[in-house]
Amino acid sequence: MASAQPIDSKPHIGAAVRDEFPIFESATYLNSCSQGALSHRVRDAVEGWLAGWDENGAEWDFWVERNETFRSSIASLLHARADDVAVTTSVSQGVSALVSALPLEQGRNRIVISEYEFPTVGQIAHAQELRGAEVVHVTPGDDGSIGVGRFAEAIDERTALVCCTTLSYRSGHRHDVSAIAEIAHDAGALVLADSYQACGAVELDVRSLGADAITGGTVKYLLGTAGLGFMWVRPEVHEALVPTQTGWFADEDIFAMSIADYSPHRSARRFDSGTPPVPALYAAVAGLSLVAEAGVPAIEAHVQTLGARLIDGLEELGAAVVTPRDAAQRGPLVCVRSTDIVALVAALAAERIVVSSREDKLRIALHLYNVEADVDTLLDALRRNRSLLA
Ligand SMILES: Cc1ncc(COP(=O)(O)O)c(C=O)c1O
Repeated sequence: MASAQPIDSKPHIGAAVRDEFPIFESATYLNSCSQGALSHRVRDAVEGWLAGWDENGAEWDFWVERNETFRSSIASLLHARADDVAVTTSVSQGVSALVSALPLEQGRNRIVISEYEFPTVGQIAHAQELRGAEVVHVTPGDDGSIGVGRFAEAIDERTALVCCTTLSYRSGHRHDVSAIAEIAHDAGALVLADSYQACGAVELDVRSLGADAITGGTVKYLLGTAGLGFMWVRPEVHEALVPTQTGWFADEDIFAMSIADYSPHRSARRFDSGTPPVPALYAAVAGLSLVAEAGVPAIEAHVQTLGARLIDGLEELGAAVVTPRDAAQRGPLVCVRSTDIVALVAALAAERIVVSSREDKLRIALHLYNVEADVDTLLDALRRNRSLLA
């Protein structure tokens, strides 16, 4: 939708937040798909954690408060209830706990995964082969996208779980999760949408996404740091899922301190594990507050506008853009093929343009703090290095 306000001057977005992120004083930062930029607010929060440790020693109550504030911040982000959110140490930990709860019984032992899953999801799925699972891969068509029809061909009454990442970390394609979930549910399967590359830059609403579990973490578009993630689990499926990969924070009563039984919490806390990563909680709560102030729908509109400008510029250069132009099929990440990706990333780094790569593709990630000038700086540099683009 057209906006009356120039895109670089909206409150809490673009030029209005640049001062919060020191890296923009010296670099063009387009790498939020790897790690979000450090803000003053996050630095202050982590320093606050250190100061509290100095002054008070173990601030257990405050740590627990941070853990619960993080849980409810994620709940707000996803339009969910805090009770349906597990605090995890990584996507890997959440997915492992989830998959450990699947019976994978005879007749329903298949895990269907898209070719665009992050390695951790594929590897966890294949690890289940040790307990009788069969893993089915859904591959992209000639245009690089994995349409709903391709999932439909792979899903049947033998399917226990379908893994369809919301947004591909290596091509920028976005899946139609709700349509895939409808097919999976008709077949009696659960759906996991790993949304690490979407959360914070794409509006995710558990009420319409259709997935039964949604995972993500705080390093990237949520502007926090490593060691912390989350998993939302649909309340209707909590009770039927009893993880065998667990920890004392997942117990019905942590302070019962019992070694005599296993009594998982009734809520999604049953997918938590051990002591949470305290410094990462401080960082994440601060990072999430920046995202909340901007508002995800506004961030999404902003990155879509910048992405369209970027794709236009890349097409003018005659480059092979991998990510679809259609806004419904992309998010904050735009990928373009290179003839020599190592040389291209190095050439851009020499100009203080920070990007990343996967296979032969340059990954350009846009977020709330990017402005049109970042896109134009990158396009100018790519024009000068045109021979390194396919
Ligand atoms: C889509 C996606 N899933 C998962 C991960 C990482 O998972 P974990 O938190 O287990 O390291 C990443 C990136 O690091 C990712 O891009």
